[in-house]
Amino acid sequence: MELFDVYPLYNVTPVKAEDVYVWDENNIKYLDLYGGHGVISIGHSHPEYVKSLSEQLTKIGFYSNSIVNPLQQELAHKLGKLSGCENYNLFLCNSGAEANENALKLASFETGKSRIISFENAFHGRTSAAVAVTDNTRINAPINLQQAVTFLPLNDMELVIHEIGKGDVAAVIIEGIQGVGGLDEGTTEFFQEVQKECNKNKVVLILDEVQSGYGRSGKFFAFQHHNIQPDVITVAKGMGNGFPIGGVLIADKYKAKYGMLGTTFGGNHLACAAAISVLDIMENEKLLANVKKVYAYFLQEISTVPKIKKIKGKGLMLGIEFDFEVGELRKKLIFDKHIFTGGSNNKKLLRILPPLSIKKEHVAIFINALKEILDS
Ligand SMILES: Cc1ncc(COP(=O)(O)O)c(C=O)c1O
Repeated sequence: MELFDVYPLYNVTPVKAEDVYVWDENNIKYLDLYGGHGVISIGHSHPEYVKSLSEQLTKIGFYSNSIVNPLQQELAHKLGKLSGCENYNLFLCNSGAEANENALKLASFETGKSRIISFENAFHGRTSAAVAVTDNTRINAPINLQQAVTFLPLNDMELVIHEIGKGDVAAVIIEGIQGVGGLDEGTTEFFQEVQKECNKNKVVLILDEVQSGYGRSGKFFAFQHHNIQPDVITVAKGMGNGFPIGGVLIADKYKAKYGMLGTTFGGNHLACAAAISVLDIMENEKLLANVKKVYAYFLQEISTVPKIKKIKGKGLMLGIEFDFEVGELRKKLIFDKHIFTGGSNNKKLLRILPPLSIKKEHVAIFINALKEILDS
């Protein structure tokens, strides 16, 4: 059997990783400014994380959601405390798409309605409803197009009010900062007005923090830069530092019913051990403070690099926009300078999503490499 060939690959084979570095099978060391697609939060192979997972595996790795699993409760308490979202309840699942799928389903159950407002260039995952609210026709099959979705431009409040006014909207779903789309984001005024309009009309406001959450923006959630309180928040990526886990944080006002949501694997013992360890390490190593410090240094240093049009994003969720397409630049960064970076729907944008443990010295290595390539 061969693999179903859906991923265009860079010809690099990582076999080992530690903190912000990855090694290939020829022992070449790469600086990881992409964090395996924004997944690595506490750094690769963190020794305490490895210890927690290994110890958990020797006890019990998995049983079903029909038994008591105290690790789920511990995770919910820790996440509530560290994120400042104690008045939410947690539903655990396995990925970002699944988190959004369940968030949309919950909104539809609660309102009895089905139309969703999403935004241009949004990415919310690849399952049925999650892909339908993703603004990319190439990854929507005819079966996905049955969903009622309206895509609006970011920051156009008049259109949001107009669409909500029609009375058939279950939810508005929006990323804290757009990831795959290219690091665009709503203004504070827009987020606050959207929340007000949703509250007024009993429309569920879903904040997709799958990529922008877990400290990446310098606050635990990116929406916390705008002083709002969404009804539902979705998380995944950095939550398990590579161990598959996702979550839906659901405001207290929504009441759970048995069987309303469910999953076989979601919230299993091993996944919870990974997620608890991530939160402990984020807290003990003060990673949010580190994000702010490294971001300030990045902004200062990147201003010395030529040919840059714009810096987008916040914290360690950054986009560097040039006035040329960055495909060749990314290849030179990987193969000549041994630095991983990311791309996005915006072909002129380099996406930077490093482990949150990155230090100024690593940013300096990147800035020098960028200057050398752009000067050559
Ligand atoms: C904002 C956002 N939401 C949802 C997803 C989907 O997550 P997953 O690939 O874990 O299903 C992604 C993945 O890139 C994302 O960036």
